[in-house]
Amino acid sequence: MWERVGKGSLIFMAAIILVSLFSGFAVATEATKFGEYSADDFAYESRCRQCHAIIYGEWEGTMHFNAYLDPFYLEEVKVASADTDGLVDEFCSRCHTPIGVVSGEIPPLDGSGMSDISKLGVQCDFCHVVSGSNGTGNAPFTVTPGDTKWGPFDDSKSAYHDSEYLELYTQSEYCGMCHEVIHPVNGLVIDDTYPTWKDSQYAEDNVECQDCHMTEGITEFKANPGRAGSGAPKRDHISSHDIVGGNVFIPVMFGAGNVADMAIERLQNSATLEVTTPETVATGEEVNIQAAITNSGAGHNIPTGVSEIRQIWLEVMVTDNEGKEIYSAGTLDSEGNIESAKIIYNNVLGDSDGNATDSFWLADRVLEDNRIGPKETVTEEHTFILPEDIVYPLNVETSLNYRSAPQYTIDHLFGEEMHEVPVISMNEVSSTIYDPSTPPEERTDSTPGFSIFAASMAFVLIMHMFYRK
Ligand code: HEC
Ligand code: HEC
Ligand code: HEC
Ligand code: HEC
Ligand code: HEC
Repeated sequence: MWERVGKGSLIFMAAIILVSLFSGFAVATEATKFGEYSADDFAYESRCRQCHAIIYGEWEGTMHFNAYLDPFYLEEVKVASADTDGLVDEFCSRCHTPIGVVSGEIPPLDGSGMSDISKLGVQCDFCHVVSGSNGTGNAPFTVTPGDTKWGPFDDSKSAYHDSEYLELYTQSEYCGMCHEVIHPVNGLVIDDTYPTWKDSQYAEDNVECQDCHMTEGITEFKANPGRAGSGAPKRDHISSHDIVGGNVFIPVMFGAGNVADMAIERLQNSATLEVTTPETVATGEEVNIQAAITNSGAGHNIPTGVSEIRQIWLEVMVTDNEGKEIYSAGTLDSEGNIESAKIIYNNVLGDSDGNATDSFWLADRVLEDNRIGPKETVTEEHTFILPEDIVYPLNVETSLNYRSAPQYTIDHLFGEEMHEVPVISMNEVSSTIYDPSTPPEERTDSTPGFSIFAASMAFVLIMHMFYRK
């Protein structure tokens, strides 16, 4: 091999080595192996909390905090393990309990060999002993537990630990170690959060995961001035550790209402909804409702992550002036399952026989991908014939909904009526359709909000005229 390498390639290789030594790019390091350390090599989060109380409080109750004890994960991983004769045990655990894996405590999967620290999910003294990575996807992290804590500052001093700067912490590639899941046998990309970000305009504009998920902004960087620890200097920006996505289900189950509220706020900032309805329709004629949904705020698809389990859909409800239902789509039936939605915005994975499956460890293909890409707009149309026996005007209510999983998936795993998966409205629009014989000046919106607004505007106008006299 060697003699075939020409002089040109040698210079090229030398250049690459020089560039990687002197540029800010993280040099690839070898991924830490199963059982390379013991759980005693890692510090409990209670130690970090002594000086980093604010950061601790932000992290507590988030999905990183829950990554191992999440009951949905624990149930699914049992099924995955049974389906694969235990082949996935170490694989799944690598992101959900990284200390459990690098300390060799998992497998067995039942937790019987685990120390308390391994059960603390994705935690302080795991994330801050990451000293390098071998790219992204399937958790290729190198960890060096001990006295040094790696982070985003190049001038940081602490009495308890040494500090080391690593640019990786400020880059999406850090998150991309775990937020990209590739099927270990057939190479199917199951969680493509990092790759979709990488292909988006956000990556082009250097808007990193941390800018939206670790600052005061939800859709862009917004500084959070403060101190990173007791006795630390005041800085222009300290990253927030309340890293949330759309998961409301698990935080509510664990009583972390503050985390659930942040997830709801995030969901309500991720998409816009524009609905076009005709102003008038005569009975017996067709009503056509058009909805345009734009992923305006997320730096990746909505939904993303385990998006074959997540559900986003449009709920449409048309009633007449007496509240009689005329048309509906995307409402929940008595079992909590979605009825007649036009589209469910997620993706459908298929197994080797081409059958749809939610069990991504069995998947080897994508059957359908209806997720909404970053900045992408999709439209859906609802049409029906307006029946004769209705009372005008009609009220059209639309809501873009999100939930973490179908109700039947949760019922199947935990039993009927054990856990209700909360449905979050990401955006709502209402409009009115009138009788064509109503004169245009009488077509005032009948929704109470608008009437109150109109009434108070009239009052202001009257008062204004009164004072001018
Ligand atoms: C998922 C991994 C992750 C977890 C868990 C995590 N951190 Fe961080 N932390 C980061 C990243 C990434 C940054 C840098 C973000 C940036 O600057 O863009 C950071 C920054 C910091 C900083 C520097 C100051 C700041 O806020 O910018 C401190 C101190 C810190 N973390 C302490 C902690 C403590 C204490 C815990 C546990 C309560 C913790 N971290 C949990 C990833 C993590
Ligand atoms: C005795 C108090 C104390 C304890 C205990 C402590 N830290 Fe710190 N830590 C500090 C101070 C002070 C800073 C400096 C912050 C600054 O520079 O703004 C700091 C900085 C950091 C940084 C930033 C490093 C950098 O270069 O970006 C990280 C990460 C960090 N600590 C993680 C941890 C973790 C993880 C634990 C628990 C294992 C921990 N700390 C325990 C006081 C402490
Ligand atoms: C060691 C692996 C690991 C790293 C590194 C990591 N995460 Fe995570 N993250 C996870 C796991 C595992 C979960 C999900 C736990 C669950 O749902 O049971 C998660 C959950 C999340 C969620 C919540 C998702 C939801 O549905 O609400 C967000 C948001 C998130 N991570 C963002 C980030 C960002 C941003 C970074 C980089 C600063 C990062 N993560 C780094 C493993 C990691
Ligand atoms: C431009 C801002 C922005 C950027 C950049 C961004 N996110 Fe998000 N992220 C959001 C918003 C808004 C949501 C809520 C919508 C949702 O849940 O899909 C979200 C949701 C999530 C979720 C929950 C997914 C779901 O659908 O349930 C995860 C996980 C996540 N982000 C991880 C990441 C990671 C990892 C990166 C970097 C590779 C990243 N995000 C970059 C704004 C951003
Ligand atoms: C490379 C890292 C990684 C591996 C490997 C991994 N996961 Fe995850 N898992 C994640 C991340 C990141 C999330 C959060 C994504 C989101 O919320 O959108 C997650 C979320 C989940 C969830 C959703 C939890 C919830 O509360 O909504 C389940 C269930 C799950 N994983 C099961 C598994 C199983 C089973 C395996 C093995 C077959 C596995 N994971 C392997 C990173 C990983």
